Amino acid sequence: MSIDSTPQTSVSPEPPTKQTSYVFQSTVNKQLPHAVGGDGCYLIVEDAETGERRRILDGMTGAAVGALGWGDETAIELVANSVRECHYSYSPYHCNKNAEALGKFLIDNSPPGVFTSSLFLGSGSEANENAMKLVKQYFLERNLPKKNKFISRSTCYHGFTLGSLSIGANSRAKLFQDILLPKELTPKTDVCYPFRYKQKGQSDESYVEQLLDNLESLILKEGPDTVAAIILETLPGSSIGTVPPPAGYLPGVRRLCNKYDIVFYLDEVMCGTGRANPPSGYGLHCWENYLSPQEAPDIQTIGKTLGSGYITIAGVLIGNKIQKAYLEGSGTVIGAHTYASHSFNCLAALKIQQYIKQLGLTKNIFKMGNLMGTKLHQALKDNPIVVDVRGIGGFWSIEFGKNGTPDNDVFPLEAKVALRIQAQAFQNGLTVMGAQGGFNQVGDHMCLAPAFIIQESDVDEIVRLTTKTVNDMAVQLKAEGYL
Ligand SMILES: Cc1ncc(COP(=O)(O)O)c(C=O)c1O
Repeated sequence: MSIDSTPQTSVSPEPPTKQTSYVFQSTVNKQLPHAVGGDGCYLIVEDAETGERRRILDGMTGAAVGALGWGDETAIELVANSVRECHYSYSPYHCNKNAEALGKFLIDNSPPGVFTSSLFLGSGSEANENAMKLVKQYFLERNLPKKNKFISRSTCYHGFTLGSLSIGANSRAKLFQDILLPKELTPKTDVCYPFRYKQKGQSDESYVEQLLDNLESLILKEGPDTVAAIILETLPGSSIGTVPPPAGYLPGVRRLCNKYDIVFYLDEVMCGTGRANPPSGYGLHCWENYLSPQEAPDIQTIGKTLGSGYITIAGVLIGNKIQKAYLEGSGTVIGAHTYASHSFNCLAALKIQQYIKQLGLTKNIFKMGNLMGTKLHQALKDNPIVVDVRGIGGFWSIEFGKNGTPDNDVFPLEAKVALRIQAQAFQNGLTVMGAQGGFNQVGDHMCLAPAFIIQESDVDEIVRLTTKTVNDMAVQLKAEGYL
């Protein structure tokens, strides 16, 4: 390439583009409503142009972030007071007591012996990015440098950094494919999605066996000595919409990991930290619904409700097996982020988690969330565009399609069913998350993940507004010829 060395005499600036927003994210051709406050399960939004304010029932708490609801004075005070009790520490030189205390709290509130250490970052994507590197170094510590492959599933979401997009499989990952980790390092196995992929008449047991057989074949094809980890969302959220794993599936994956010396890695960024753990369990992890402590993950990522929307924090929980290899090996973790395990974030998250525990909110959301699921089932069972209602605890989804036409029941992408439902629900006074592409690049579903504080009256209102929105959409789709 030749470079023109002619001096540039006058460079006139481009005429200014229309100023729409000073923040370059999501929608950039207009300003979205601003979230300006909230009280309990309600969010207050302000129209960016008119300044008009509305109070919206927060059925989704952003991206399943909210546990304490909004405007909780105690939470605000706990967070505010945390500033005074911390000092910045940079991990190569110092640690801090607050990170230690948060790690201890999370480990103490997990089944004994499962996790032994932790690392805190700013987002779920960063958590997955770091967990991948921790797994890679784990195998280096054991002198197994060929273990470089990360198997995840054919439809999944693990974040938006390049590493986490590489283990993801969704429309966004597809767009950026050319700049991600090579496909050879990130093989994909079947998504576990019985509603769509279990054959007619096939039992759950046989479907699970099929998934595990295919996974084992993939491990063997790739070469077990090259596979580092199998990565799964315990309860997939935005990708396919809260599909609970059928009995035997997660334990089966665990067995394959044991058999081939592969790290069993669960992503609970969206479904974990209190959103969907069984009340009989230790109080934090969704996998406690499906796995015994002996079958627990070797490494796990967490986020969202850890800070409950009051602060930015996510993390990696590290199992004994992994920690031991480091202790017996180099005794160091390579790399650092400037703000990793930040003292303020860790203390504020600890205070928030202690407060959630003190109020018994993870038990409340499990009960109220399941009640919401039962009521949604009941209210939507005859709706012509609802094909499935599923979830557990505080995380539920509704899948849309042409009910009664099982072989061709998916709406075309251009009908934008889920996105229009999200917009319409907002107009009706409810936040939901609409998503497309969960089934063979098409398909529509919406998710609900309210704050842990919801009461039965909130559940009834969520169900009423959801039903109204979905009923109205069915009428519109019929008028447009999609039904
Ligand atoms: C399962 C899962 N993992 C990782 C992430 C990424 O988290 P973050 O958006 O905080 O980077 C998300 C976000 O929705 C998620 O749902």
